[in-house]
Amino acid sequence: MSKITAAITAVGAYVPDYVLTNQILETMVDTNDEWITTRTGIKERRILKDKDKGTSYLGIKAAEDLIAKKGLDPKEIDMLIFATATPDLPVAATAAYTASKIGAVNAFSYDLQAACSSFLYAMSTAARYIESGRYKKVLVVGADKMSSIIDYTDRATCIIFGDGGGAVLFEPNEEGLGVQDEYLRTDGIGRDFLRIEAGGSLLPPTEETVANRQHFVHQDGKTVFKYAVSNMADASVKIMERNNLTNEDVNWLIAHQANKRIIDATAKRMNLTDESKVLMNIHRYGNTTSATLPLLLSDYEKKFKKGDNIVFASFGGGFTWGSMYVKWAYNS
Ligand SMILES: CC(C)(COP(=O)(O)OP(=O)(O)OC[C@H]1O[C@@H](n2cnc3c(N)ncnc32)[C@H](O)[C@@H]1OP(=O)(O)O)[C@@H](O)C(=O)NCCC(=O)NCCS
Repeated sequence: MSKITAAITAVGAYVPDYVLTNQILETMVDTNDEWITTRTGIKERRILKDKDKGTSYLGIKAAEDLIAKKGLDPKEIDMLIFATATPDLPVAATAAYTASKIGAVNAFSYDLQAACSSFLYAMSTAARYIESGRYKKVLVVGADKMSSIIDYTDRATCIIFGDGGGAVLFEPNEEGLGVQDEYLRTDGIGRDFLRIEAGGSLLPPTEETVANRQHFVHQDGKTVFKYAVSNMADASVKIMERNNLTNEDVNWLIAHQANKRIIDATAKRMNLTDESKVLMNIHRYGNTTSATLPLLLSDYEKKFKKGDNIVFASFGGGFTWGSMYVKWAYNS
């Protein structure tokens, strides 16, 4: 019997309707469109305005989009992994709620948190379950309501993040398509530079932590930028070298959308001179954390051909980072 590989067989996505443009941000903090565009590449982001909706809403909508497109019976889903840094509740998995809501009544599920690398790590986890031969349909949902943890008086962070969700289905493949290789890394030094200080076991929430705005994301942007540029590029080059891929062999780079300059630096190190291979949507959505990779898959799905070589890359808080080499498994 041929070896089982884990192939992506469907994608879905959802972004909320409300558009937060750079022009609107100019009225909220001391910033301007030109600064944001040249420093980050971002023009607008989507925000989930409804006060009674959490991250699960974004994930459920994305999963429902996939289910409808694929004509999938949700009862056939064996497992659901919900990649997120903003679960609905600190305890009670967003994954379990999402699985029930979409009718995946035969699935087991859990959340996976690795900041902006959550989705890449969840793809890796899903691939192992499929490769084991025991599970046939694993749904990976990636969603974040970043607006719930962003301080809209802090110009260093509020210009970057947005809300969104995406989903991919993994199924076994016997033609050798799907996940080929991965290179995943972490470095705990990262928690000094990108974090939410309060609300966890180290500093439980108090009136004081709220008054000090310690329940919002804080980052040392310059330091994070330096680590992101070198680590995401290193990981992407490493996966190419390990698999003897030249720049010509790589059809698409699907990189975490944190900052256009970080993506450009990664593409340069990979020698991807053909810009059309470097997929971007950061100008429309900003950094949606766990949703950036599936949102790119959804936006560009029609361009992918069976057998295409895709390099995924991510970098996030923690620090967490890595790359994955995937052979695309279908024509849409
Ligand atoms: C945040 C980031 C865009 C800032 O860009 P930068 O070129 O590093 O800018 P700096 O932080 O050096 O700031 C330069 C100046 O612009 C100012 N500035 C910061 N944010 C600003 C904003 N929104 N509008 C206008 N000016 C701003 C700074 O105060 C600083 O002014 P100063 O020189 O008078 O002190 C960039 O560091 C970055 O993208 N970092 C990575 C963040 C990231 O991706 N995080 C998620 C990881 S997954």
